[in-house]
Amino acid sequence: MNVGIREFLNKLTLEEKAGVLVGVGGTHMFPGSRVPGAAGETHPVPRVGIPGFVLADGPAGVRIEGGCCTATAFPVAVMLASTWSPEIVEKVGRAIGEEALAYGVDVLLAPALNIHRNPLGGRLFEYFSEDPLLSGVMAAAYVRGVQSTGVGACVKHFVANEQETGRWGLDTVVSERALREIYLRAFEIAVKEGRPWAVMSAYNKLNGVHCSENEWLLTRVLREEWGFQGFVMTDWGAGEDVSRQLRAGNDMIMPGGEDKVKELLEAVRSGKLGMEVVDRSLERVLRVLADSPAFKGYKPSMKPDLEEHARIAYEAAAEGLVLLENNQALPLPADARIAFFGTGHVATVKGGQGSGHTHPPYVSTVLNAARERGLRIDEEVAKTYEEALKDEMPNIEQSFKDEPDKPTLSENFLSESIIEASAARSDAAVVVFSRVSGEGYDLTPEEFYLSSDERWLLEKVSNAFRSAGKKVIVVLNIGNPVEVASWRGLADAILLAWQPGQEAGRVIVDALTGRINPSGKLPVTFPRDYAHVPSWTFPGEPPDNPKRVVYEEGIYVGYRYYDTFGVEPAYPFGHGLSYTTFAYKDLDVTLTRGEVRIRFQVTNTGKLPGKEVAQVYVRAPKGRLDKPFQELKGFKKTRLLNPGESELVEVTVKLSHLASFDGSRWLLEKGTYEVRVGSSSRDIRLTGYFTIPSEERLTRLE
Ligand code: BGC
Repeated sequence: MNVGIREFLNKLTLEEKAGVLVGVGGTHMFPGSRVPGAAGETHPVPRVGIPGFVLADGPAGVRIEGGCCTATAFPVAVMLASTWSPEIVEKVGRAIGEEALAYGVDVLLAPALNIHRNPLGGRLFEYFSEDPLLSGVMAAAYVRGVQSTGVGACVKHFVANEQETGRWGLDTVVSERALREIYLRAFEIAVKEGRPWAVMSAYNKLNGVHCSENEWLLTRVLREEWGFQGFVMTDWGAGEDVSRQLRAGNDMIMPGGEDKVKELLEAVRSGKLGMEVVDRSLERVLRVLADSPAFKGYKPSMKPDLEEHARIAYEAAAEGLVLLENNQALPLPADARIAFFGTGHVATVKGGQGSGHTHPPYVSTVLNAARERGLRIDEEVAKTYEEALKDEMPNIEQSFKDEPDKPTLSENFLSESIIEASAARSDAAVVVFSRVSGEGYDLTPEEFYLSSDERWLLEKVSNAFRSAGKKVIVVLNIGNPVEVASWRGLADAILLAWQPGQEAGRVIVDALTGRINPSGKLPVTFPRDYAHVPSWTFPGEPPDNPKRVVYEEGIYVGYRYYDTFGVEPAYPFGHGLSYTTFAYKDLDVTLTRGEVRIRFQVTNTGKLPGKEVAQVYVRAPKGRLDKPFQELKGFKKTRLLNPGESELVEVTVKLSHLASFDGSRWLLEKGTYEVRVGSSSRDIRLTGYFTIPSEERLTRLE
């Protein structure tokens, strides 16, 4: 296929060309798919040896369904980002790629890297972070992992697709500066450092034009400025006009269908769409897919190494646990008598719903894992839960494997006397709160808070256990940030477990007992109250059926807002505790040609081995443009450091990456920049400085 692609194209009829560019149709999991559960396929052209290509979701594991096979459920993306470890994310990507390959998939529809603009975003769990650097670096690592197996990755949803409400036709209105510095920036890093085979254009409009029909976005920015060499496909059913899509640089129409094929054929026959545009897209698609498993005649083995991948899922989840609070409550001694509360310990949530859903061989629940690990649990309380949930169990088990939402379970069926009796005989209480969200809907502001029965349970458990001198630990098994400020005083420790995939229970239990020392950090701010969230225009106007959402906060997304405007969060971006402690020293900041090199030492000063995520923020001088108080410019997770052990950390920042977009170009302002090194965005341990003598204008970032 490398030779004479043009000549090759000449052999194809218009109908055949349309077949390759337009999918075979259907919705998710269309009946005739070669791979059960795949999201789409293209038409083969057997006459000239072009196979049909298979495209399957998704970010937390290959979305394959049906009797034939299961695929590993890995932690959701927000938890992968919480690892702050591109190495482990690349490993996860490779494992997902191997499963995709084994099951006959050519392109994986992942990773997804929209920005955490609002905590209620229905697909926030599928996205990495509120910060574009962390999002982009994680996505690039994921892409490299997937593509190292010979399967392609498709980064999505390009761009400004931060909500589910009204997503089909919503017009997202964003300033070019916010686009360039936040929303596009994540994709720019992923495209430049990951080199994905494909990009999926988003459902929404961007400043009035459908993303899939947006030439500025798909041609000027993506290809001309960033040098993207792959092909662009639509999100499933996005956009209105096939000709406009192809002309704009959207090469593949998914999931397609006969109507779309017809539309394309008629457009060419009537002269509305030039054949050269069709050929341009076809060339892009075939050039990339010439390397696909299908083109190479790869026969799916149907036998991925699920055991090894389960170990990787465990490892990734272990690295992504975030210890939010710990008042000498964790880790629990191995022989502690533990009482588990909250339906989440029985109905533990592995991931979110919709196309990011997975179909794993099993889900380890907290209760099962506690029993499996031989913990001394309060069986009487456990049995009360099992009895109360008996009728729901089939639905709960179904939700582990299949897509229906986890049933809504009430939390107020325990009597106070059971709780008090348990407090008398147990050493600690662990309350597991689980939440699920998914594609197609956002959460409501009420869902940001604990429900009244969750709060009732926590209050009762907290009173009973604490008055008996026992500790109370809350485990948050969630996909979105929730309100914690009003109730955290009722707990002695809070472990944020996100939605950890199929190894959920084991990872949570192992962290409670100290087999895992949490080393994750927040990739998103936990606000104190929903009223403090800067994306006040979410979900747009009119609120019940929004047609338009204006990103009025501009560049002030997440910590960029909280830090700049002095709003205290519940837990800041980058926060996460450990069972050990770390000290920072010896900061050295050296300006070299085009770069600033930042070096410092991190030492484990506590009593247990642990890993630290060292974060480097830069505060720009006051110049011509408004700037956030500080911005993340680099980070490094240390290796496992034994007590007393140190690691010399080096982070290099390109000076061009300190530039801001002034409306038409990038401006690197002169002046003295502050380097802020710390354990979170609000726990800065070292500061240093460097000076840029004169301002510089750049047409693009390197
Ligand atoms: C989702 C995409 C997904 C596609 C195929 C769409 O509804 O937005 O993320 O890849 O369906 O399943």
